[in-house]
Amino acid sequence: MAASAPVASTCNVMDMVKSFALQTDDFLRVFLSHVPDAPPILMESISYSLFGPGKRIRPALAMLSCRAVGGDAATALPAAGALELIHCFSLVHDDLPAMDNDDLRRGRPTNHKVYGDAVAILAGDAMNTLAFELLASHVPDPVLAMRLVKELGLATGAAGMIGGQILDTCYPAEKSKGANGSLTHLQRIHRMKTGALINAACRMGALSGGVSETDLHTVDALGRAVGLAFQIVDDVLDATSTAENLGKKAGKDAAIGKLTYPSLLGLDESRQHLAKQVQIAQDMAARLGPAAQPLAQLVVELAHRDH
Ligand code: IPE
Ligand code: IPE
Ligand code: MG
Ligand code: MG
Ligand code: MG
Repeated sequence: MAASAPVASTCNVMDMVKSFALQTDDFLRVFLSHVPDAPPILMESISYSLFGPGKRIRPALAMLSCRAVGGDAATALPAAGALELIHCFSLVHDDLPAMDNDDLRRGRPTNHKVYGDAVAILAGDAMNTLAFELLASHVPDPVLAMRLVKELGLATGAAGMIGGQILDTCYPAEKSKGANGSLTHLQRIHRMKTGALINAACRMGALSGGVSETDLHTVDALGRAVGLAFQIVDDVLDATSTAENLGKKAGKDAAIGKLTYPSLLGLDESRQHLAKQVQIAQDMAARLGPAAQPLAQLVVELAHRDH
């Protein structure tokens, strides 16, 4: 039954993703329930975004990367929770009127539409700091905790996600003054605004699983490829899908004049670039060995996702 084998294994990895998502949500709920003295409106706004129906890809990458290097996936739960906190902070701020000005996220009104700009800004700020508090308080080995804090800080900050958001946000104004987008600039934006956190998910998961220095290099190459691939798909879906399917507005990148793969290269070439990154990630997963097979399957799922 050669034909049924890939279907069965694909089902398995998506079942694992679902299970990891539930575990991460449970972990985060317990963590948040112990935050003392926080104003209820702030916690409500945080919970609204954090527990919305997102795909929980960063937790899944962390837990599968942990498993890929021989660790128990559950040891990556603090990393998974911290990564989802940072990701949700980035989404809440990304949707603000001063940034992408979006009304719809995960099929529901954006945080600032429900709670107002001020609460949304502060909820994002709080999720950012909670992520680091979580790592510092829930990773039993202090050396590992410090390493994970450093990894997440680098990936989130000025040379990572936030730096990439700046480049992404400034581009439409630069373009109106005559700047021409280049592939080098586009890749820099994508590797920073999205790739850095995705790579951190893979690296932090592997570190939680006790990865060797050699395998960490391989995980890093895999994470870089997945990070770029993930944003190429996001760009392609923005240009080709619908708000109903995505749970967020479609066609907005072109409307705002963002530098994206489809706007620079067209859809066909964008898909070729995607295939190249997926191949790199697959090669790196193969190098890690059989325990990395579910991770390799998730990479394929992410490349073919429709939302
Ligand atoms: C959307 O990320 C923003 C990007 C970095 C491309 P996801 O596609 O992972 O969003 P959710 O978490 O599933 O809502
Ligand atoms: C997302 O880029 C980057 C971050 C949230 C850090 P986009 O602006 O393309 O994400 P969506 O399409 O709004 O989810
Ligand atoms: Mg954006
Ligand atoms: Mg956006
Ligand atoms: Mg997008």
